[in-house]
Amino acid sequence: MKPLSQRTEIFTDSVIRRMTRIANACGAINLSQGFPDFEPPEALTRRLAEIAPVGPHQYAITFGAQNFREALSDKQFHFSGMRYDPQKEIVITCGSTEAMMASMMSVCNPGDKVVLFSPFYENYSADTILCGATPVYVPLSPVDLSFDADVLESAMAQPGVKALVLCNPANPSGKVFTHEELSIIASLAVKYDLYVITDEVYEHIVFAPHRHTYIATLPGMFERTIECSSLSKTYSITGWRLGYVLAAEPIMERIKKVHDFLTVGAAAPLMEAAVTALRFDDSYYAGLQAHYTHMKNLFTNGLRDLGLNFTEPQGAYFVLVDISEFGYGSRSSMSDSHNGMCDASRSDAKCAGGTLPDEQFCIDMAQNVGVAAVPGSSFFREPVDHLVRLHFAKKDETLYEALNRLERLKKLKR
Ligand SMILES: Cc1ncc(COP(=O)(O)O)c(C=O)c1O
Repeated sequence: MKPLSQRTEIFTDSVIRRMTRIANACGAINLSQGFPDFEPPEALTRRLAEIAPVGPHQYAITFGAQNFREALSDKQFHFSGMRYDPQKEIVITCGSTEAMMASMMSVCNPGDKVVLFSPFYENYSADTILCGATPVYVPLSPVDLSFDADVLESAMAQPGVKALVLCNPANPSGKVFTHEELSIIASLAVKYDLYVITDEVYEHIVFAPHRHTYIATLPGMFERTIECSSLSKTYSITGWRLGYVLAAEPIMERIKKVHDFLTVGAAAPLMEAAVTALRFDDSYYAGLQAHYTHMKNLFTNGLRDLGLNFTEPQGAYFVLVDISEFGYGSRSSMSDSHNGMCDASRSDAKCAGGTLPDEQFCIDMAQNVGVAAVPGSSFFREPVDHLVRLHFAKKDETLYEALNRLERLKKLKR
């Protein structure tokens, strides 16, 4: 047989989804892959039930149903003050996952470079590589998640850089970029004429006093921002696979074509039902905020009581817990980063069949403590192996049970 594609040869499976399989196999509470175990809003599921017998059940228009795009345009105007034209500046995709991929494919040529902050959501480097582009990483400080503007500028100024990916609020760090930080990013994007591809799936999960700012609203940014987001997190419907891209018409024309060939379109009956959610009033978003603040407080207070060190989330629903005290060692002698891929140039221990310290910790924790987490190394470019990511989008009883089980963590100490 002829060899399969070189571009995808370096991929390993997704570490996050692998941890979900391990959690299922050993009956662990799955705090690895981020999805809620509570129900979506009742109005939404009721509407879905109404639609089931009557449809629509056939393809929607490829760019997304007209009423969905109109409702989304109104919602976006309400929250950001920006009015996107439902005909020309919006496309509905299969989750933010497709939105990011279609955006990246519309922007990048093979050989281009894309700037990513590290730690980052593992799909971004995969998206970049699928486009034949190369990621350029800018570290966030492990202490306060700040970035060095000079390091960012030298990354953005590199020849061949076409775009920067901005996840805000960020997975896995829980960082919410401040207005000042976004202004720095925006001015550099203008200076070096780069696109900014955003992933704002956690736009409505932000903890006071932090506030979400859409970078597209900053001066000079509307025409170069490709805003990706989805309904997955905002309405607790990760399985519906509804996402979207908002961008100025000249960019959107291209993204629409890529989207059409990639997936044809998002699910018609689900779009029809979800119009209901897009038309929810402010009380829904206040309730969502209050619910997530409650879950965050419950979980982080429990972690604090257990004596664990972790990052305090500003937004999204993750904590990075420091596992240094458990004595699993360091991978500096073993390998470099492996964010879902093997780097042939750096003889990655993972790809050679090795297991990184934080991976081993997560496997032991799932099997012996009964709680599944994601090894932090899957999110960092730098050789970071002392963190694991847990998420708290769960019912109170699930979080209490997880905290109970985590009391057994001391058994893992080496
Ligand atoms: C930052 C980020 N972007 C995108 C996604 C996936 O979004 P969607 O379900 O809209 O594809 C996730 C899911 O965890 C995420 O954390």
